[in-house]
Amino acid sequence: MKNKIIQLLDNSIDVLNAEQITEILEQPPKPEMGDYAFPCFRLAKELHKAPQQIAADIKDSIVCPDFIDHIEVMGAYINFFTKKDAYAEQVIERSKSSDFGSSDEGTGKTICIDYSSPNIAKNFHVGHLRTTVIGNSLYKIFTKLGYKVERINHLGDWGTQFGKLIVAYKKWGSEEAVKEKGIEELMRIYVLFHDEVEEHPELEDEARAWFHKMEIGDEEALKIWEWFVDISLEEFRRIYDLMGMDFDHFTGESFYRNMTEDVVSELTEHGLLTDSEGAKIVDLSEYDMAPCLILKNDGSSIYATRDIAAVEYRKKTYDFTKCLYVTGQEQKLHFSQVFKVMELLGNTWAKDSLIHIPYGLVSLGGEKLSTRGGNVIYAEDILKEAISKIREIIDEKNPDLSSEEKDEASRIVGVGSVIFNDLYNQRIKDVSFKWEHITSFEGETGPYVQYTYARCSSILRNVTDFSEDAVIDYSVLTDPATVDLLKEIDRFPDIIEDAAERYEPSVVARYAVDLAQAFNRFYTENRIAVDEKNVRDARCMVTSITRRILKDSLDLLGIGCVERM
Ligand code: ARG
Repeated sequence: MKNKIIQLLDNSIDVLNAEQITEILEQPPKPEMGDYAFPCFRLAKELHKAPQQIAADIKDSIVCPDFIDHIEVMGAYINFFTKKDAYAEQVIERSKSSDFGSSDEGTGKTICIDYSSPNIAKNFHVGHLRTTVIGNSLYKIFTKLGYKVERINHLGDWGTQFGKLIVAYKKWGSEEAVKEKGIEELMRIYVLFHDEVEEHPELEDEARAWFHKMEIGDEEALKIWEWFVDISLEEFRRIYDLMGMDFDHFTGESFYRNMTEDVVSELTEHGLLTDSEGAKIVDLSEYDMAPCLILKNDGSSIYATRDIAAVEYRKKTYDFTKCLYVTGQEQKLHFSQVFKVMELLGNTWAKDSLIHIPYGLVSLGGEKLSTRGGNVIYAEDILKEAISKIREIIDEKNPDLSSEEKDEASRIVGVGSVIFNDLYNQRIKDVSFKWEHITSFEGETGPYVQYTYARCSSILRNVTDFSEDAVIDYSVLTDPATVDLLKEIDRFPDIIEDAAERYEPSVVARYAVDLAQAFNRFYTENRIAVDEKNVRDARCMVTSITRRILKDSLDLLGIGCVERM
């Protein structure tokens, strides 16, 4: 219908093309302003007439087609009032197919998303939770648009810190303690190293020697390192499992360790490498950036070197159209440097294809979160706490559920509540963490949307004779609450495209709340299980479509649904 209106306007306006008209056409905020509105301000300049006059002229030139009830000029706007039953019909026809919102925009194109990427022997903290949920949601969004997505976990599993860890382990660690406590113990001995090194600076040399051994493939060094990697991965996987998330590649920094030499030769061939106090750098002063360090003065490669190797590997292996990096904004400079170096190496694609997706901090605002040793907050503890809080609420709200159903619902809703809270605001903004809000079943929360989904399911369970193939009487779907809900449904495809264009899952999260709210208004004003079969079928149809889009929206955020909660 929108397209038909665009077509009408296109026929009447010579100075704009269909694409420009699409950009200008609005959905008015109030029903008394119609279903679509076209402001004429922009035309005033070109046509040298008052916008009000232009609006009136255009209106006069349009012959009202049958799906339009009437057209009104209000100030500089041309407002289109569609016939409500025709509108209902077109929204339902369009949205009832299960791939509503999908597109083939991405067919034949690959996007790499580098996200989560925790550091071995360090805890998976709230910051990593953010990159994990943002990256996972972008994966879902781009997949829905037809792209092939490579989910890459660029683990922090290489670097001088592992030399330190080996020294610490040999001096103060034990196999039993590491086996028993895992990352917590590795963190403890790592901190100890930093305390001790103050008085014993020679520990630094020992650490460097161990890392050097790792770099030249020493068996003992690599064996200890690999063990630390396995132990850490086991803990990380537990978190991914809890969240129902997975990756296509766990290719961390160590994966590129033998490719850094090629990076150095390539940079040398291009005359980009300069000496600086024994280290090798790429000077980026011309671009107002600090130099990109490539080799330290002891000859070892660093984070950036491995990132350059990784870009080359990924381009060669996946031939991506885009490679996205989801990290905190503090890594902005790092990625600007890496991307610039790629450009200077003659890769013209680098400028538009390599994209840093930064996000803000999690501010705990005085919340007491459970901590293990050393006041460190583990993402896993937060998720578990959310699950147990939701369990309490479900126990109270729905005591009839079986204990398995309660377990399942608490996990999905608990984890979902944390993810939703993370994704609800623009990613660049700091996320505030307030238990009372996060786990609430009301307001702009995950549980609210999930609860609305479960409500739709329950309504449909209770109407036994409804089928999606029913012939729908659209004339009973014309009251304001229903029309509002249909408008929300109609927005879904645009929402996904908008979220993808801006790499912004919050667009979907906000939409999910809008849709849930519109449904709840529809439900308050319209009884669904009424006696008249035509009314009942039509309302069930709307409920069924809403239910599916709520589920799809949550899925795009990486959140599951339950039928009862
Ligand atoms: N391991 C890093 C961290 O925890 C994030 C890695 C991001 N990805 C990359 N290709 N540099 O901060």
